[in-house]
Amino acid sequence: MKMDKKLIIAIDGYSSSGKSTFARSIARELNYIYIDSGAMYRAVTLYCIRKGYVTEDRIDTASITEDLGNIHISFCYNPDTGEFETYLNSENVEKEIRGIKVSAHVSRISMIPEVRARMVELQRQIGVYKGIVMDGRDIGTVVFPDADIKIFMTASVDVRAKRRYEELKSKKIDADYEEVKRNIITRDITDENRDISPLRKADDAILLDNTRMTIEDQMKWIRDIIGKKLNENRN
Ligand code: DC
Repeated sequence: MKMDKKLIIAIDGYSSSGKSTFARSIARELNYIYIDSGAMYRAVTLYCIRKGYVTEDRIDTASITEDLGNIHISFCYNPDTGEFETYLNSENVEKEIRGIKVSAHVSRISMIPEVRARMVELQRQIGVYKGIVMDGRDIGTVVFPDADIKIFMTASVDVRAKRRYEELKSKKIDADYEEVKRNIITRDITDENRDISPLRKADDAILLDNTRMTIEDQMKWIRDIIGKKLNENRN
C-alpha cells in the first residue's frame, strides 16, 4: 500500500495573528506534531530574566551565549489539557512564559544570532521526520525553506491585541489591554526590523488575513490547500 507522504507545514506571521490556534487545529486534524517555536524563544528569555542577563536597559549577550548549552527546552503532552506544554530544564514553564514580563523582553533576546542559531538547529532536528506543523516568524524563510506548505498570517492590530488580552485573561494572567496593544506594536517593529531572520513573508508563502475569519473559516480554507498538496505528493 502506498502511504501518504507526510508534510511540513510552516506558519509564520505577526504576534497574536492566531498562528498557534490555527497550527494546533491543523496538527490535530492531520495527526501531526505541533511545535510552537515562539515558546522556545520565550523559554530562553525566561532563563535569561531569572539569571539577570536581561534588564530594562541592559542585555548581557556574552553570558547568554556562554550559557546556551545549559538551556534545555522540550515539549510534553498534558493529557488533562490535550496540549503540548513547554519545559525549561525539566520545569513546566508554560504559564510563566506567556506573561507580560517575558513578552516585554523576548524580541530582544530573539535578536541574538547565537540564540537564533541554536533554536533553528533544534527546530530542524524536530522536523526531521516530517508530519509537523510549526509556527513562528522565520519557519518558511529560514528553518524550513523547502516546507510543503507555507502560510503567512496577519490581522489588524486591534483584533490581535484583543485576542492576546482574552488569551491572557482566560489563563488568569494579569493584563492591561493598552499595555498588551503597545507590546504587540513594539514587537511588530522589532520583529520586522532585526538584522537576522526578520519577520517577512516568504515569496512562496500564501497570505492569510484572518481579521474577519473564524477558526472554522480558516480550517475550511486550508483543507483545500492540504488536499491538493497531498494529491501532488501521491502522484
Ligand atoms: O509567537 P510568540 O509571540 O509567542 O513569539 C514570541 C517572540 O519570539 C516574538 O516576539 C518573536 C520571537 N520569535 C522569533 O523570533 N522567531 C520565531 N520563529 C518565533 C518567535
